[in-house]
Amino acid sequence: MKVLIVGNGGREHALAWKIRQSSRVKEIFVAPGNAGTALDAVNIDIASNDIAGLVAFAKQERIGLTVVGPEAPLALGLVDALEDEKLRVFGPSRAAAQLEASKAFCKNVLRQADVPTADFQVFRDPDDAMRYIKGKYPGENDRCPVVVKADGLASGKGVIVCKRRTDALDAIDRISRRKEFGIAGSQMVIEDRLDGQEASILAITDGRTILPLPAAQDHKPAFDGDTGPNTGGMGAYCPTPMVDDSMLAWIEEHVLVPTVHTMKRNRKPFKGVLYAGLMLTQAGPKVLEYNCRFGDPECQPLLMRLKSDLVEILEAVVDGNLDQIDNPEWDPRPAICVVMASQGYPGEYQTGQPILGISEADQMPDVKVFHAGTKLVEGTVVASGGRVLGVTALGDNISLAKLNAYTAVQKVRWQGSWCRKDISDKALQYIQEHEKA
Ligand code: AMP
Ligand code: GLY
Repeated sequence: MKVLIVGNGGREHALAWKIRQSSRVKEIFVAPGNAGTALDAVNIDIASNDIAGLVAFAKQERIGLTVVGPEAPLALGLVDALEDEKLRVFGPSRAAAQLEASKAFCKNVLRQADVPTADFQVFRDPDDAMRYIKGKYPGENDRCPVVVKADGLASGKGVIVCKRRTDALDAIDRISRRKEFGIAGSQMVIEDRLDGQEASILAITDGRTILPLPAAQDHKPAFDGDTGPNTGGMGAYCPTPMVDDSMLAWIEEHVLVPTVHTMKRNRKPFKGVLYAGLMLTQAGPKVLEYNCRFGDPECQPLLMRLKSDLVEILEAVVDGNLDQIDNPEWDPRPAICVVMASQGYPGEYQTGQPILGISEADQMPDVKVFHAGTKLVEGTVVASGGRVLGVTALGDNISLAKLNAYTAVQKVRWQGSWCRKDISDKALQYIQEHEKA
């Protein structure tokens, strides 16, 4: 079978690397891919949001399975367009992808499904939104624990976590009057701020059966100690000790099952990856958001640990018989992915610097360097994006996986490269605190 993977990040390189290990697969294409996917597959020069171009290519090549990485083509209806041509595709329909593409849609589903989430209100008019904030927090210098979110897709940037009333009023102004996030800001969600550790629970579902994957933890702020601006994710590890088996079972019962059921009842059945971004609060896990695809970088440590054939799982979703396959087998060892980024990311950055040392790092045992923002220029791998590489490693425990990953990171260099130095430290701290208790 021929497989087409859509996207060009670390997630798509991990998918190509893993799918290549399947005996069911003869040929893999990645559109548009990066310098890493070129090693595991054939890159095709079609942009990931060129729906017509992707459908034409899939038809022409008789692609047996398309796997969609990013949210934008899902929200544009790539799955529907491929299915209209009787082509097999892994991912949610455009209607179901609203769960990620509209935060107001997501919150309404959560409310309808009675899934724990922060209290919220939806606004279109900035004056109404400001009146709401001023009514709830009358003192000009009041603490104001709210989060103001642009409704639509904004690459994770349209979420503003507020401390004071002025932060909230400014956030409303940025989203709704200055339109910093374009049409993504035509609606806003204002919700209560939650405190706790965050966890990513990814589940694969065919709309009836739900297969939760081991819990992961992302690191979204740019700098060590969770400081600095938000990014797409600076590193992730899996499994996280913060979500034990009984909590995962609770999340399945109280979060995933009612969500999938409600989507089905609303005639927008969800199939693909349902990714719950959770806050583990004192009052239990609460949903911050849903994504409708594999997380990036969470996908990298997850797939590094998956021993079973991924294609068998993806095909079971397409065929609607996820209940028929065996539970996937996982490497018991934890995996950690450290993102190496360009100088300046998540702000402006330069590209084109040659990258050295990737193959030395890649040759280390239990290490895999996944490419994200890279491209090949005259045979040399150069940086071409903000998040450039995802250096991923297994180890017998989290400390050893961390050591392995950062030893590999030290072998890689380019001008201006940097990474967070504390990926997975939250797990180590959590384990220490719980050993003491
Ligand atoms: P989202 O795209 O909705 O997941 O938001 C991005 C990030 O903003 C999350 O990973 C959290 O760090 C933060 N965030 C979102 N909603 C809340 C909330 N209600 N309380 C605290 N932090 C939040
Ligand atoms: N790691 C966050 C995301 O994929 O949205």
